[in-house]
Amino acid sequence: SRRALHRFTDVLVIGGGLAGLRAANAVASNQSVFVVTKDVLRESNSNYAQGGIAGVLDPADCFDSHVSDTLAAGGNLCEREVVEMVIREGPRRIEELVQWGTQFDSSEGELMLGREGGHSRERIVHARGDATGAEIMRAVIEKTREADHIEIWENAFTVDLLTYEGRCRGAVIVDHHGRTVMVWAKETILCTGGNGQVYRESTNPSVATGDGTSLAYRAGVELRDMEFVQFHPTVLYIAGSSRSLITEAVRGEGAHLVDTNGHRFMPDYDDRAELAPRDVVSQSIIRQMDETKHSNVYLDLSHLNAKEVHKRFPGIADACDKFGLDIAVDRIPVRPGAHYEIGGVTVDRQGRTSMPGLWAAGEVTSSGLHGANRLASNSLLEGLVYGAHAGIAAARAAAEQPSKMEALPISSPVVDRDTKFDVADVRVSLKTLMGRLAGVERTAEGLREASDSIRSFGAYVMTHQFSSVEGWELQNLMLTASCIVESALARTESRGVHFRSDFPIPRDDQWRRHLMIKVDVDGG
Ligand code: SIN
Repeated sequence: SRRALHRFTDVLVIGGGLAGLRAANAVASNQSVFVVTKDVLRESNSNYAQGGIAGVLDPADCFDSHVSDTLAAGGNLCEREVVEMVIREGPRRIEELVQWGTQFDSSEGELMLGREGGHSRERIVHARGDATGAEIMRAVIEKTREADHIEIWENAFTVDLLTYEGRCRGAVIVDHHGRTVMVWAKETILCTGGNGQVYRESTNPSVATGDGTSLAYRAGVELRDMEFVQFHPTVLYIAGSSRSLITEAVRGEGAHLVDTNGHRFMPDYDDRAELAPRDVVSQSIIRQMDETKHSNVYLDLSHLNAKEVHKRFPGIADACDKFGLDIAVDRIPVRPGAHYEIGGVTVDRQGRTSMPGLWAAGEVTSSGLHGANRLASNSLLEGLVYGAHAGIAAARAAAEQPSKMEALPISSPVVDRDTKFDVADVRVSLKTLMGRLAGVERTAEGLREASDSIRSFGAYVMTHQFSSVEGWELQNLMLTASCIVESALARTESRGVHFRSDFPIPRDDQWRRHLMIKVDVDGG
């Protein structure tokens, strides 16, 4: 067998989206940090964020209003102290981004603020119209590359966490040369983002395969609320196109949702119409598609000022233009798609997980901010706040440990073995299955079918020793899918984004609580 390489660092950050880089930048410059990402730094959900970051920046706005909007969307499951903390810290973290060089859209020196569903006023900062995430990540990546104490490993896949005597000690990483490296870290921060790729229709890039929740779960770390998968109401639905996001800010600017007959249907479902929170809009769209027996609905912007529309949403205008659609004139075909995993690794306010030595921040976590339904543009905010907290706390914990580190005994590092089956085919089957049986609407019958199918795929996928990223991702997707399905089966009520058509009513008495999952793993 090949000999493993060993590397040592004070802090290991797994994942290079906004939360990961914010965490890395919070570590003191006399400590060493590795940031490991499986693709290039640009490739993260953060980079594709369109809408922006919600924050109380307008003097006429107030913290209480942002707090109450977040709590109202969250279906009685948010943790109030967490919501208060994140929202009050938000403006400072956004200001930090400006200092790091992010150029948010502004007019006469004032930040321009957009509106999105569930917010009772304009409070979303954006950049280059609908390229907010790309502009933020440009600035944050630049800042990170300039820091001498941060070493960046791109195209390096984290296969598993290293644990010993119940504590996280770093991770097993296959680097861009294909070498297996044991990275021993005093403290490790998990910032791997989400898992939209579990579903066929998704706004997420292909890297979003639930790696972090899977690494954590396999190591015996507590996850919670995995059933709360948020579906974005408006994902571009054109055969042959990538399923790109059409930002909610489009509705914030006044776009209507119409069905195939041209009927504006949202007012039939909710007084807030197109600006109702996402769970309401996605569920209404599914019902309207069902009623009209049509595969999608449409966004209609034709009543808005065409020049303004093109200026405000240049990215979306471009994406649609490739398919011969002028967004200011033509109806844009859309349907809901998996967008954000609300559940994840349980963390406290410092980003501490249930395992000593392991911290986490961003979409991979369940912090208590989002409850059962995340409010639009609260997630980059969470990534910033928790990235900073986890980075500071992990750095402090690392500084308290002896400076000498050594490799611990390892039983079985990665072993090469040929794949005997078509990984891509199983991936597509899984995604299709999840869309059909564990999507916006769920029933016990459908979820049981999903559970059985995953178990039968799993019998050969999970026991296989892979040596490729495709294989490891498939295992992570399957494990994540299984966590979602089993949790969705267990929660016999509807709340926020979790809609059980066989249990349509929230049952606050029994279910106003989190649903934890964790496997017992013996140390070693
Ligand atoms: C969007 O631009 O609609 C996405 C915003 C979000 O998911 O928070």
